[in-house]
Amino acid sequence: HKRIGILTSGGDCAGLNAVIRAVVHRAVGTYNWEVWGIYRATQGLMQRPPQATRLEPKQVDAALTLAGTILGTTNKGNPFAFPMSDGTVRDRSSEIAEGYHQLGLDALIGIGGDGSLAILRKLAEVGGINLVGIPKTIDNDVGITERSIGFDTAVNIATEALDRLQFTAASHDRVMILEVMGRDAGHIAISAGIAGGADIILIPEIPYTLERICQQIQQRKQQGNNYSVAIVSEAVRTESGEVVQNMLSFGECRYGGIGHYLADRISALSGAETRVTVLGHTQRGGTPSPLDRLTASAFGVAAVDLIADKDYDKMVTWQNRQVVSVPILDAIGQYKAVDSQGTLVKTARGLGICLGD
Ligand code: F6P
Repeated sequence: HKRIGILTSGGDCAGLNAVIRAVVHRAVGTYNWEVWGIYRATQGLMQRPPQATRLEPKQVDAALTLAGTILGTTNKGNPFAFPMSDGTVRDRSSEIAEGYHQLGLDALIGIGGDGSLAILRKLAEVGGINLVGIPKTIDNDVGITERSIGFDTAVNIATEALDRLQFTAASHDRVMILEVMGRDAGHIAISAGIAGGADIILIPEIPYTLERICQQIQQRKQQGNNYSVAIVSEAVRTESGEVVQNMLSFGECRYGGIGHYLADRISALSGAETRVTVLGHTQRGGTPSPLDRLTASAFGVAAVDLIADKDYDKMVTWQNRQVVSVPILDAIGQYKAVDSQGTLVKTARGLGICLGD
């Protein structure tokens, strides 16, 4: 009989609850273990008593289709340099390990992106925690794994937004710009851009020039399409870094900078009427797509099985149509960008989509 903990860490995304459900079903249903859901990532383990609740299959079933995380999460407060209310920074890592041991846990499943998994791995090492990791992020930039929970749903949401923008763009002869998330990677933009029939896709992996974008708009005009739809990743840049400079002039506002900047420049250079949509955090919500639910279920079951085998310090990944476990250390820090020579980029170019270069 084992007692395992589960927590969600970093930004939320659709499919986290589907992982929790799968873990509970496998652990309770198959192995007859106890599963404890830890609240607000590692912060639940810092509190005294540790903030956690025992999870039963009945409780988590309804969560399959819910976005967000029933356990709550946070992407603030690295436990190794935790910001205290008096303005100082303190190493609180040992409190987390203590919390884990106070709950009497035999193992912990941590669902997180690259940053969270790196922190959890370090906590596990110094605190004697038996950790298994599950990758999640709408950005899809975790190394080794082909899929991370939340990405597919985010792509669906961005694609649907493009579908809608096509009609209004055509009706008004406008250039519509959709700004999507991705932190430093263009996976959402390139995938949704192809699926949603964008004419222009800008990703951080390929520096753009305004001239090329305006050329594409002009060319489409000549072909009788007096409108264009562009999808822009939040982190795109020119080779000279011009946009980074410009973003700074937008002050603290992280989102809505690049889309509005481009709209302004494109309008000035091409004379086109432009409008901007910033999708923002809507990409992290919505009903998890069937693919995200499937991946979440497969990852959840596999993570519990790793614990059954006492095969700790592993992360589950998706590779070549199956779940493969790899050492967490091999996966973290292996930031996965869009391959600028890869299939999706080739496909986009083959379709005549402008990638800004
Ligand atoms: O990593 C997921 C993500 O949604 C990124 O795409 C985005 O840049 C960032 O998180 C937003 O973070 P926050 O919710 O803290 O604003």
